[in-house]
Amino acid sequence: MTNRYVKDFPKSVNIVEVGPRDGLQNEPEILPVETKVAFIEGLAEAGLRQIEMTSFVHPKAVPQLADAAQLIASVTQQPGVVYSALVPNVKGLERAIESGIQRIAVFTAASNSFTKKNIHMTVGESLKTFEQVVQKAKQAGLSVRGYVSTCFVCPYEGDVDPKDVFEVTQRLLEMGVDEVSLGDTVGAAVPTDVYRTVGFITETLAKERLALHFHDTFGTALANVCAGLELGIRTFDSSAGGLGGCPYAPGASGNLATEDLVYLLARMGIESGVDLAKLAQVSGNIEKQLNKELPSRQLKRLKTLNSLPVSS
Ligand code: HMG
Ligand code: MG
Repeated sequence: MTNRYVKDFPKSVNIVEVGPRDGLQNEPEILPVETKVAFIEGLAEAGLRQIEMTSFVHPKAVPQLADAAQLIASVTQQPGVVYSALVPNVKGLERAIESGIQRIAVFTAASNSFTKKNIHMTVGESLKTFEQVVQKAKQAGLSVRGYVSTCFVCPYEGDVDPKDVFEVTQRLLEMGVDEVSLGDTVGAAVPTDVYRTVGFITETLAKERLALHFHDTFGTALANVCAGLELGIRTFDSSAGGLGGCPYAPGASGNLATEDLVYLLARMGIESGVDLAKLAQVSGNIEKQLNKELPSRQLKRLKTLNSLPVSS
């Protein structure tokens, strides 16, 4: 039923599931590769169509994802699902190409202090590196996503100027990155931050080529998604169960939980293609493997109702 008080929202949005990468990268206890394989295959079964599986970073920087090549070789990939991996430099790209993955994601930030801690480069140096990475990736037939971290708040420098976010995003798009995901790395943003920064950027850059990536430290991620939807953004990153965090952003919690995003979208009449019950089962299983409670509200709710079938 139409209602003049309700805005026109899109019929569907895209979810990029980052749990296997952004989620697991922060977990100190290394999971066996078969547990990760079951996790990723379950996510595809639940209807997720874009899954970031792992990263080709230095194994000492993120020991949990040191098994990237073995993992990619072991996952049975579903047709229609796009699988990707994070790549910080040419060495990472070479490993990614060898693994057979079809999509990579390069990652930098809008603030120098974070980028230096994260990948030992200034923002400028990272963009020079990525020019080479993107060119070589395209020559090898791979598609490329890009991340800009610290789009709203930097854990070391504080508030970030929307112009800095704009400049990095524009450079990434110009060098051939097909979609840029704007990250609230510390999970501190509120909707006014989103209106200010994403509103400013979308005055010039195509909304279709932007995604939003919210961590949920202060419980504002869903509110920020609504602000993003109002601004015309149609792609959102989230992680199953709300797993995650960034080892280089102290105190940052996990990503927005995919279950909570799916619930919000469904209730708003927006299709995501994800089966919430199936997804909660997959998240429930990884929760059991990690032996800790995950923050997803939907997962907690289904457990309280005792209606979460968890296979052993
Ligand atoms: P570095 O030490 O400066 O690298 O690390 P280097 O180029 O000086 O090389 C040193 C050694 O590392 C060399 O080996 C290289 O071959 C090797 P040696 O010659 O000494 O034997 N090396 C590599 N080995 C494997 N894979 C590679 C690689 N590169 C060099 N790719 C580096 C620089 C970027 C590699 C390191 O700092 C690193 O791996 N950082 C990754 C940090 C990370 O994964 N952070 C989390 C992901 S970002 C995130 O979570 C944010 C996001 O979710 C969005 C948001 O929330 O905002 C995306
Ligand atoms: Mg992240």
